[in-house]
Amino acid sequence: MEYRTLANGIQMPLLGLGVYKMTDPDETVNAITTALTNGYRAIDTASFYKNEEQVGQAVRASNIPREEIFITTKVWNDDQGYDETLRAFETSLKKLDMAYIDVYLTHWPIEGKFVDTYRAIERLYDEKLIRVPGVSNHHQKHLAALEHSANTMPMINQIEMHPYLQQHDLRAYCEERNIAITAWSPLGRGAVLMDERLQEIARAYDKTPAQIILRWHIQQHVIAIPKSVTPSRIKANHTIFDFVLTSEDMEKISLLNQNKRFGVNPEYSDFAKHFK
Ligand SMILES: NC(=O)c1ccc[n+]([C@@H]2O[C@H](COP(=O)([O-])OP(=O)(O)OC[C@H]3O[C@@H](n4cnc5c(N)ncnc54)[C@H](OP(=O)(O)O)[C@@H]3O)[C@@H](O)[C@H]2O)c1
Repeated sequence: MEYRTLANGIQMPLLGLGVYKMTDPDETVNAITTALTNGYRAIDTASFYKNEEQVGQAVRASNIPREEIFITTKVWNDDQGYDETLRAFETSLKKLDMAYIDVYLTHWPIEGKFVDTYRAIERLYDEKLIRVPGVSNHHQKHLAALEHSANTMPMINQIEMHPYLQQHDLRAYCEERNIAITAWSPLGRGAVLMDERLQEIARAYDKTPAQIILRWHIQQHVIAIPKSVTPSRIKANHTIFDFVLTSEDMEKISLLNQNKRFGVNPEYSDFAKHFK
């Protein structure tokens, strides 16, 4: 495993399992169990995914010490605001059945609320109920608003990122402020895997396109959280620590950028409508 050192010195695994759209409880527990057995030490969930109970259950059943596993969860759009976030956190903690959460994120920057939401996350950090405060889907304007009000800036920004959406400007902005990037939909929801140029690079390394993309993320110190319920894929997605992409191949992948999104764009003020 390779790690990213966050602004407070905590080391976060560069690869984790995403569990969005895992709705069947048994399938979810099985996927997380397979991941933990194959070396994963980070799980990315959210109250919105409705599977925090299964995450807690699988972590306990693994018998891996709790402090060796990095758990991320997020406060959903309907629960934002200062008091609401504190309450939502309590609910997540209960569902996970854990004493603390490693990373707690504002899921989306809800206008008029995200600043207060983050104030509550800072409080949870001060009270040592979380180890890392962070946000998700925050663009420069959202982070700039937090810069005015926060004592401790977010240490993570989780954003959509894959070879077709490389987020150069936002990443540079975050890196200047020591905010680590986590890539959601790191495989472009599977769609990027069909790219002929990626397949050609994969053949040269005797790896799969997914392994090439994940290696490309972590080689830039971007945390990647691919989702899979398929045991062979969960295992293969983790087998990326035994090779290194050359700078020429890193550059070739950088040229695949098309600023193409598979998810919602947080830039537009009405983005939250997409979740109703
Ligand atoms: N913060 C946010 O707003 C936000 C938004 C979206 C997602 N996320 C997080 O990011 C995680 C990942 O994103 P995502 O689920 O949207 O997309 P993704 O990880 O890019 O892609 C997942 C899809 O790729 C398939 N897949 C996985 N590994 C594969 C492989 N080696 N070969 C072929 N296909 C493969 C999966 O299929 P199978 O499962 O059938 O194997 C699934 O259909 C989520 O689970 C969630 O934790 C966060």
